[in-house]
Amino acid sequence: MITVTSIKELKEVVNKVRKNSTVGLVPTMGFLHEGHMSLVKQAKETVDFVVMSIFVNPTQFGPGEDFEKYPRDLARDEQLAREGGVDLLFTPTVEEMYPKPGRTTVHVSGITEKLCGASRPGHFDGVSLVVSKLFHLVQPDYAFFGLKDAQQVAVIEQMVQDLNFPVTIVPCEIVREADGLALSSRNVYLSPEQRKEALILSQSLKHVKERFLNGERNAEVLRQEAITLIEESPLAQIDYVSLLSYPELETVSYIDSPAIIALAVRFGNTRLIDNALLKN
Ligand code: PAJ
Repeated sequence: MITVTSIKELKEVVNKVRKNSTVGLVPTMGFLHEGHMSLVKQAKETVDFVVMSIFVNPTQFGPGEDFEKYPRDLARDEQLAREGGVDLLFTPTVEEMYPKPGRTTVHVSGITEKLCGASRPGHFDGVSLVVSKLFHLVQPDYAFFGLKDAQQVAVIEQMVQDLNFPVTIVPCEIVREADGLALSSRNVYLSPEQRKEALILSQSLKHVKERFLNGERNAEVLRQEAITLIEESPLAQIDYVSLLSYPELETVSYIDSPAIIALAVRFGNTRLIDNALLKN
């Protein structure tokens, strides 16, 4: 595995490789776990050459969010990336990615105003901006994103379609701990007690999924059942629990096409997200 920190080196390597190999990109913010590594695995099965980026992107964090304290461990990440079979690791500094204050925004409208976009204004503009930059720099044939961030997948797919990026987006399944908690770099913030109670998230989603598969199609009934379960945990503070069409993210009352139940819940200062797709 080669590790590069500059755009110049990144381009030198990728431009050479691209002549006779397919290239895949796995964009991350590091503090790698099995969720990230599942994207690498999928990438290795799809392309000849796997590029991973590790960049804690300041433009997708709002004021007062955890940009400064976002967990970082580059030495460990490098080892995991190497073991996972990444070919090229790109770990730029903030100055390398944003040398001057930028004047360009990449805004996907509509779908970014719901769910995490409503609780984190500007978040998806930062995501679309950095992902656009990475797509231009790496010019991957395929890019791999986790359905853990299902709204992010919808936003990136829309952006790729609207701006004709020559890349195929590959959505990858959510990886969970044995007990159901979705893997997240932010799980390290949880106290043992919060960690135990956070299980209610995947349990409530599982409940909704089962009710859906057994025939319940009323979106509000299913949403309320998830809320009732989560509210049983005294440590859980609900940010949102929403049931929308997917990937359009439009309000639904009767579910007759693919939908998503998505939630964001705080345990102390830690905000966790999770979701389940509802389709036959
Ligand atoms: P990050 O949170 O590091 O996640 C990187 C990728 O790993 C995302 O596509 C995310 O959906 C995926 N991922 C995280 N946890 C997962 C899990 N439990 N199962 C499956 N996939 C999982 O998402 C970002 O970074 C950033 O917004 C980024 C796209 C890199 C832009 O800065």
